[in-house]
Amino acid sequence: MTFPSGFLWGGAVAANQCEGAWNIDGKGPSIQDVTPQGVMGPMTAQPTEDNLKLTGIDFYHRYKEDIKLFAEMGFKIFRTSIAWSRIFPNGDEPHPNEAGLAFYDALFDECHKYGIEPLVTLSHYETPLHLTREYNGWANRVLISFYARYVTTVFTRYQHKVKYWLTFNEINSVLHHPLMSGGIETPKNELSQQDLYQAVHHELVASALATKIGREIMPQAKFGCMVLSLPIYPLTPNPDDVMACMHADHRNDFFADVHVRGYYPGYMKRYFREQGIHLQIEEDDIQILTHTVDFLSFSYYFSTCETVQTGVDGATGNLIGGVKNPHLAASEWGWQIDPQGLRYILNKYYDRYQIPLFIVENGLGAKDVLITDSAGEPTVNDDYRIQYLREHLEQVHEAILDGVPVMGYTTWGCIDLVSASTAQLSKRYGFIYVDRDDDGKGSLARYKKKSFYWYQNVIHSNGVEL
Ligand code: BG6
Repeated sequence: MTFPSGFLWGGAVAANQCEGAWNIDGKGPSIQDVTPQGVMGPMTAQPTEDNLKLTGIDFYHRYKEDIKLFAEMGFKIFRTSIAWSRIFPNGDEPHPNEAGLAFYDALFDECHKYGIEPLVTLSHYETPLHLTREYNGWANRVLISFYARYVTTVFTRYQHKVKYWLTFNEINSVLHHPLMSGGIETPKNELSQQDLYQAVHHELVASALATKIGREIMPQAKFGCMVLSLPIYPLTPNPDDVMACMHADHRNDFFADVHVRGYYPGYMKRYFREQGIHLQIEEDDIQILTHTVDFLSFSYYFSTCETVQTGVDGATGNLIGGVKNPHLAASEWGWQIDPQGLRYILNKYYDRYQIPLFIVENGLGAKDVLITDSAGEPTVNDDYRIQYLREHLEQVHEAILDGVPVMGYTTWGCIDLVSASTAQLSKRYGFIYVDRDDDGKGSLARYKKKSFYWYQNVIHSNGVEL
């Protein structure tokens, strides 16, 4: 067993789930700062003290300590996002906030000090709150110009420090979570399909525009889209179930299809026609969409089933539910665990697109118990996490043997952070334990879990020893 040389091993976080410092050095509030129960929960008028994300794991002040630990594990790459509202506090002002820019300069410098490449998500569920309240987020076309100004600013500033860029985190999730993913304040049940897909169109144009602008500024850099991947299996061999899968797949694949191929697929045009959706597409939009990505990146946590039957058990999952698969076990949060689904989706994407793939999120959220080891050091015996990651990496290797070009693998939440869906700290993904509980209590001290040493050896052996 071996992985390609130059394989990008690492870990991933998002600014809003770890940085804290929500109003420090000129940062403006984002939608995360008013959703204390997670971005699927209700919005509060103002940021409230019970919102763990306001302080996160204080990565803003502790990043040096944390990156040192990532370097100790041997990370080649570290995925994080830039908090848009640190750079443009309201999102629509003409000039950026220098203190916010300086923070990411220092962060990327710290990565390079250890030979770690930053992989940057430009928008990870952290739309500036003002853009949501004033413009209804991506439902409004004007966001394309605000986003273009923001990405031009950060591309120009970090052109010599960042080679890998992702435009929007899990862009397809906007269909399910318009506020979280699209910054759209209109409640989902009041949002028409017309307005939802119009918002999608704005994001797709903005994403392609970012790739276009980025290439002009940094011809050597690589630009990727990022989707929430979801293998969907027919619950039975009934052809109706298979067709139900195909339609569900289309709803997800549509986003990557546009990013990779540069135009709207026929099945979506048909869907729009039949649903009476008439997108407002401006003259330049079609041309902008032709600026396609260099690679496709995705998160992978679970698979699901589809059926036309009614009354079947549902499955919870990473932001999108589905039908329960009777053959799979699930995590403590009900997410179905399916390592082979990762090989399946890697093959599916490569068959479809023939461009390099990057797994930028995968991991197990679990309740860890802090113990003391024989040397008196606090640690966690997280064999369950090691098993989860090992089984998934075995399937990544299978896909590589199948001929799929996989650029790298960044585990989600390489250090414990605040969960996106539930805003808990007790849903831990990290190799590094952070002493903080769901009530916000704890010293914020960092402790290495057993998986820390396991992953260190995986990277050191380039995946030969899983
Ligand atoms: C992905 C998101 O959907 O899943 C991350 O990109 C998120 O932001 C991750 O944290 C895990 O989900 P959760 O809800 O367990 O934090």
